[in-house]
Amino acid sequence: MGQVEELHRRKTFGIVSHPDAGKTTLTEKLLLFGGAIQEAGAVKSNKIKKHATSDFMEIEKQRGISVATSVMAFEYRDKQINILDTPGHKDFAEDTYRTLTAVDSVIVVIDVAKGVEEQTEKLVQVCRMRNTPIIVFINKLDREGKDAFDLLDEVETKLGLHVTPLSWPVGMGQRFRGVYSLYEQNLILFSPHGKQEEEDVFRITDLQNELLSQKVGDAAAMTLRDELHTIVSVYPEFSREEYLKGNICPVFFGSAVNNFGVRELLDCFVDIAPNPLSRETEERLVDPQEKKFSGFVFKIHANMDPKHRDRIAFLRICSGTFQRNTNYWHVRQGKNMKFPNPTAFMASKKSVIDEAYPGDIVGLYDSGNFKIGDSLTEGENLHFKGIPSFSPEQFRFVNNTDPMKTKQLNKGLDQLMDEGVAQLFTKEDNGRKIIGTVGALQFDVIQYRLKHEYGASCDYEPVNLYKACWVSSKDANALKELISRRKKDIARDTDGKLVFLAESAWMLKMAQENHPEVDFHFTSEY
Ligand code: G4P
Repeated sequence: MGQVEELHRRKTFGIVSHPDAGKTTLTEKLLLFGGAIQEAGAVKSNKIKKHATSDFMEIEKQRGISVATSVMAFEYRDKQINILDTPGHKDFAEDTYRTLTAVDSVIVVIDVAKGVEEQTEKLVQVCRMRNTPIIVFINKLDREGKDAFDLLDEVETKLGLHVTPLSWPVGMGQRFRGVYSLYEQNLILFSPHGKQEEEDVFRITDLQNELLSQKVGDAAAMTLRDELHTIVSVYPEFSREEYLKGNICPVFFGSAVNNFGVRELLDCFVDIAPNPLSRETEERLVDPQEKKFSGFVFKIHANMDPKHRDRIAFLRICSGTFQRNTNYWHVRQGKNMKFPNPTAFMASKKSVIDEAYPGDIVGLYDSGNFKIGDSLTEGENLHFKGIPSFSPEQFRFVNNTDPMKTKQLNKGLDQLMDEGVAQLFTKEDNGRKIIGTVGALQFDVIQYRLKHEYGASCDYEPVNLYKACWVSSKDANALKELISRRKKDIARDTDGKLVFLAESAWMLKMAQENHPEVDFHFTSEY
């Protein structure tokens, strides 16, 4: 099979949800369908948040385990499906944002009882910035939850998505009888514990068909007819084109733990989800069908084994064919590199591969050459867009507590920042270093890893900051003026970009008002 056939076989997506909505369970059921795992319980990755305490060691250990399940590939109906795992813990939200840059579509899992939760809102916002096609799966229908129409309203208002149901529940909780698939025009009867059989599926194209009442009872059949009538009149007809543009989201209902509604979701996903899409670079649009290979690093994971200092860089292939032991151009470093042991991930197994295609993720063993956002090509200088850093929410000064180990500290900090653990800002006036993170947990992680992996020691000092904003201006003098007037509030990030450190919302507002020619950005990419 050639590159084009291979890429047409691929669907690369991520599952996102608020912790506990059922992402891990759904992932597992999908892998079971694909035969990639034999039994439930094999996917452990997201159990991290179960111990969502300040026990960062436990979390780091779990993160170590989760490397193996960061990418899970399986075959279904002749397609190769790559699922990219996203951490559930909110302190690792940036990892999730970055992973979303490497997918072509997303499935959002929502708990029927809890509705749209905070984490889901944030993640969907990131997807919407890139018009990523989204399918919504409303889970746990075996439990009592919110009214299905109210949930659709919530998805529309809180997530800003236009929805169209492609399946519809018949009751819920104790009264849950099954779902009607508008997509396949089937009634699928529910039996708990994943015992769904072929004979539980009935083709019903005409809702007046007596079979409906026979199977779910008169009252439930009547309600279903009414509700479906409302759906047809209120929600737009499903259009794949609109879905692919990110304008409309199909919604499915089911119960992941009971393996119910999952096959319908997967079958529809395989029909409609996009193949690897084009990717924007600063220079031009990269088409996956191009002959020449290109790809970018969206995640770096340190090996947890202290005896091996290697890291794994996760590379999303965007065009061409990636080949083992072939020289590729590392754009940022301006040098060629080859990879003797690129790794593919098939569920929990890792294996060395010879070739990979657009949409695939390969793991590259790295001894410190990569940084998130780096590109590899066959020689062209391409910079992939859409992997921004977000303004951190927590800040602390970092102090070196072992002056004999200054070199180690700097190296450690550099490498941890390359991995995207946190962001480092160096103040222009006095050279002091400030670490900015999304969650408090990262401060402990950094301290621990500096000690154990680099032999360096640091402590933190509080710093009163509200936001770090990247600043730019078309008018070089305006920028100069800001720098000279606010010297003590100016820093540089690790790429040397200028950053304004605002002590409070008010200070930021003042700076914006006093320097109208300067643009203040909340992400590093603008
Ligand atoms: P997450 O990855 O999104 O965080 O969620 P996860 O799959 O771990 O599911 C969270 C809990 O919800 C698990 O229970 C899981 O069994 C349960 N769950 C998932 N799908 C369904 C469903 O369709 N119906 C019902 N009733 N429960 C569901 P747990 O008790 O926290 O963990 P476990 O001991 O069962 O693994």
